[in-house]
Amino acid sequence: MPKKLFIKTYGCQMNAYDSDRMADILIPLGYELTDTPDAADLVILNTCHIREKAAEKVYSDLGRIRDLKRDRGPAGADMMVAVAGCVAQAEGDEILRRAPVVNMVFGPQAYHRLPEMLARAQGFNARGGREKLVGMDFSAAEKFDTLPEDHQAPGVAAFLSIQEGCDKFCTYCVVPYTRGAEYSRPVPPVLAEARRLVAQGVREITLLGQNVNAYHGNAGKGETCSLGQLIRRLAEIDGLARIRYTTSYPGEVDDDLICAHAEVPQLMPYLHLPVQSGSDRILDVMNRRHTAEFYLRLAERIRAAQPDIALSSDFIVGFPGETDAEFEATLDLVRNVGFASAFSFKFSPRPGTPAATMDGQIPERIKSGRLAALQALLDTQRFAFNESCVGRELPVLFEKPGRHAGQIIGRSPYLQPVFAEGGADMIGQIIRTQIIGTGSNSLHGNVNSHTKVAAE
Ligand code: 5AD
Ligand code: SF4
Repeated sequence: MPKKLFIKTYGCQMNAYDSDRMADILIPLGYELTDTPDAADLVILNTCHIREKAAEKVYSDLGRIRDLKRDRGPAGADMMVAVAGCVAQAEGDEILRRAPVVNMVFGPQAYHRLPEMLARAQGFNARGGREKLVGMDFSAAEKFDTLPEDHQAPGVAAFLSIQEGCDKFCTYCVVPYTRGAEYSRPVPPVLAEARRLVAQGVREITLLGQNVNAYHGNAGKGETCSLGQLIRRLAEIDGLARIRYTTSYPGEVDDDLICAHAEVPQLMPYLHLPVQSGSDRILDVMNRRHTAEFYLRLAERIRAAQPDIALSSDFIVGFPGETDAEFEATLDLVRNVGFASAFSFKFSPRPGTPAATMDGQIPERIKSGRLAALQALLDTQRFAFNESCVGRELPVLFEKPGRHAGQIIGRSPYLQPVFAEGGADMIGQIIRTQIIGTGSNSLHGNVNSHTKVAAE
């Protein structure tokens, strides 16, 4: 009987990619994925440290897993529990002290060693106890070199990690500490992974990196390849219909990348470009290394190259010292740029980051008020953008069946989920779809038989 593996992923798409890679390592060892921890032989929590809420959630989940293991009686004794990801990297063996149910703790650059760590953690020591393992590697290169080549069942739209880590040190952010220094995977393994994904039926690839547009992969012969150049090379792969990338840093958007948006039809007209604040003083204290004006001009340059582009962003409200007027500057920036979608967060002080101990920490009540005001404005813009799609015919890549019989779900070029009536035969196809309505965060489409042609 195959052993059961339960992986819970918190946080960003990099973690989603890592969780899939962990499954790729473990499935050949006799594991099969299950979607509850109840009867699992191995539970992996792939955690996020970016905000306090996400990090604390891990401990409440570990409490539930401890109870579950106890309730299973002797059968629970062999259940192994691992904490992976950025909380693991940040807290290390502290996790073992706070949650004795945990057998293994390993960070984002150590999970390629899972088979070896698991075998050691499962063995008993001379005293009949189990060894607890902590893996805190810092070499992304070694990890990428040892990961299995094939993705198990990648589906229609897949992630491909090309860059990891961050050297920017924004003063609120844990990423440089949890994911380490910027690292770009060399070009040949990236292209090979993309070709294998396409051979497995993938039609859309999202290139991932904490700072994906800082990509400068080794292309051989002493040359490096920028993200824009990599996109052009990926676009040569037959059958790869759509390319996306996330997340970008404004200061690293170069002409090459902007040009790719104008010239590469496979590159989708959607760009997630976090700005965080519209106040120059706050941007400076955040160490973002750009001004609001720079971001506005950048948005203009991108739109000049690709007028159809949908922009998305991240915002932090209530950064230490943020005044009402500085918060208003963020609202002004939002009004000036116009976003199709966005994520916004209350500032969360993270241990070890400069902003956590800055003067002028903003009371929770004020943060909540500002977040509500910002989200109301962003919602208005998102609804308006979704409404502007009604009546248009958009190419939709259908990815999976919906919850109701006869329903399928796909994505528009602008990353909106699109619900339509249709059969499983449409999955994996790009179909021109008449947009007939909007949901709170999605579009409703109609696929007429005469438009049912696989475009692109
Ligand atoms: N508090 C609140 N939000 C944060 N982010 C990163 N660090 C923090 C923090 N300490 C947000 C940023 C980033 C997104 C991934 O998470 O907006 O772009
Ligand atoms: Fe964090 Fe700034 Fe790096 Fe983004 S660019 S990962 S916000 S330090």
